[in-house]
Amino acid sequence: MSRARPSFALQICETADAAAGAAARLIAQRIRSDPGRPLGLATGATMIPVYARLAAAFRAGEVSFARSSSFNLDEYVGLSSSHPAGFHVFMREHLFAHVDLPPDRALLPDGAAADAHAEAADYERRIERAAGIGLQVLGVGVNGHIGFNEPGSPFTSRTRVVELTAETRRANARFFPPGESVPLRAITMGIGTILEADEILLVATGGRKRDALAAALLGPIGEHCPASALRLHERVRIICDQAAGAAIPATLIEAARDERA
Ligand code: F6R
Repeated sequence: MSRARPSFALQICETADAAAGAAARLIAQRIRSDPGRPLGLATGATMIPVYARLAAAFRAGEVSFARSSSFNLDEYVGLSSSHPAGFHVFMREHLFAHVDLPPDRALLPDGAAADAHAEAADYERRIERAAGIGLQVLGVGVNGHIGFNEPGSPFTSRTRVVELTAETRRANARFFPPGESVPLRAITMGIGTILEADEILLVATGGRKRDALAAALLGPIGEHCPASALRLHERVRIICDQAAGAAIPATLIEAARDERA
């Protein structure tokens, strides 16, 4: 059966480790070919092996971040840059401490800002002043969120303060010290902000992401599934493992196959 070519490229790797390797190779390749273009970075468990591979590539002399800059997607409102479950610490621990990205060019929203709304607006302006993001790296939530854009987020949304769903707070509780609750709000780049990146890489691994990935790639495009917005962008690559891609039909896998990175 023939199928029209989808708007995205899909690469299904055998294991999560192989998916992390493929994602890291793509990111390193983009840094080498256009080091001045800002990267958009994500946190979360999916990214840990991706960043470990990038750090190893840096140590091996295969890539340098010296001319790069980055904007992270999000940060919890109310967490300082030294909170162990905050994304500043995550990024330092998993990437920034291990590569030569200049610290003053590795940006995240300030979750501890006195006025979170003003901070969100300022972050959006900084992205604009940098002439936008080159490669935007994304994970996906079990409810289809991208960044902290929960279901119902407008596709035109910009960086702003959002309320987290109970599902997302439950999923992220594992990163918080016992007894400490996950903040109710976060600052996140908007879906509109994300869609303005030159190129988007979404990484999904593990069976927990199977339904979210299927909804994003096969279901109706709409605000109920933020990741479905990626089908409106013309340069998107999905890298997943077999567990996350288990609900994607063979016809779509074949139609979206593109081994070039
Ligand atoms: C993190 C982020 C989130 C995560 C998503 C998946 O900066 O924006 O959208 O990418 O929640 O998280 P993991 O990888 O922990 O399943």
